[in-house]
Amino acid sequence: MDLTHLQRNWDDLGRVDPMWAILADPTRHGNRWTRDDFFATGVQEVRRYLDLLDELGVGARREVAVDFGSGAGRLTQALSSAYAKVVGLDIAESMTALAVRENLERNPHRERASFVTNSADHLGVIDSDSVDLVLSIVVLQHMNNALKSAYLREFVRVLRPHGVAVFTVPSHADRSLTGWVRRLPNPVQNIYRRHRYGYRSVMEFHAMSRTEVEAAVAAAGGDIVTVRDDTMAGPPWISYLYVVTKPGPEDRSDRK
Ligand SMILES: C[S@@+](CC[C@H](N)C(=O)[O-])C[C@H]1O[C@@H](n2cnc3c(N)ncnc32)[C@H](O)[C@@H]1O
Repeated sequence: MDLTHLQRNWDDLGRVDPMWAILADPTRHGNRWTRDDFFATGVQEVRRYLDLLDELGVGARREVAVDFGSGAGRLTQALSSAYAKVVGLDIAESMTALAVRENLERNPHRERASFVTNSADHLGVIDSDSVDLVLSIVVLQHMNNALKSAYLREFVRVLRPHGVAVFTVPSHADRSLTGWVRRLPNPVQNIYRRHRYGYRSVMEFHAMSRTEVEAAVAAAGGDIVTVRDDTMAGPPWISYLYVVTKPGPEDRSDRK
């Protein structure tokens, strides 16, 4: 799959207004996130995800984590207080460069985190069966569904048996007027987005229904542990947080 356009868009956003492109709070548009506020959100969120894993009784091993679509390292840094090694993967060179800088400047566990630009439609830079947690928050929503499915396969491949993937995907827009507008094709919405935000590059939005995500996870060989309502994508999106495990060999032999 050709990711040139996606990469160019994110690389550009990573140069002009990275923190807003990551957490698109309208009041922070135009580089108005403070670094402290921005990174504090990562600490809170990661605590929530790890508490959820504890509650579900999965993902107890905390050695290696991959933050897929790591942006400025908001979640990568927070993960590094719990995991011995965290790799942040991002398609945009500008985001990777920012993440490296911020990690050096503000992460007390900086030596545990590393960042790699990955512009492939696979995670070939990560070995199979080597990762305890893949976290991917507000990332898959920005790419087409064929690419989402390709990465979901890769998430399961890189997980160790009993490892967990935690990721968000908006399923569909609600029935509000905005919801109907957001169902318009991306090329049409992009005209508005360019005008509204004043940047040449735009963040496209691609929903994938819960049924389709669950089918893609099953096809990848993963098991869904839970699906929770998620608000990260904001209205009008009905969005879910998925927790997926990779079955161990003993689980596979139980299956017909
Ligand atoms: C909305 S930001 C979220 C960043 C981070 N997950 C967070 O929550 O702080 C989406 C990130 O995904 C990255 N991204 C988009 N498509 C990607 C791809 N195919 N592979 C890796 N990263 C990608 C973008 O460059 C951007 O940094």
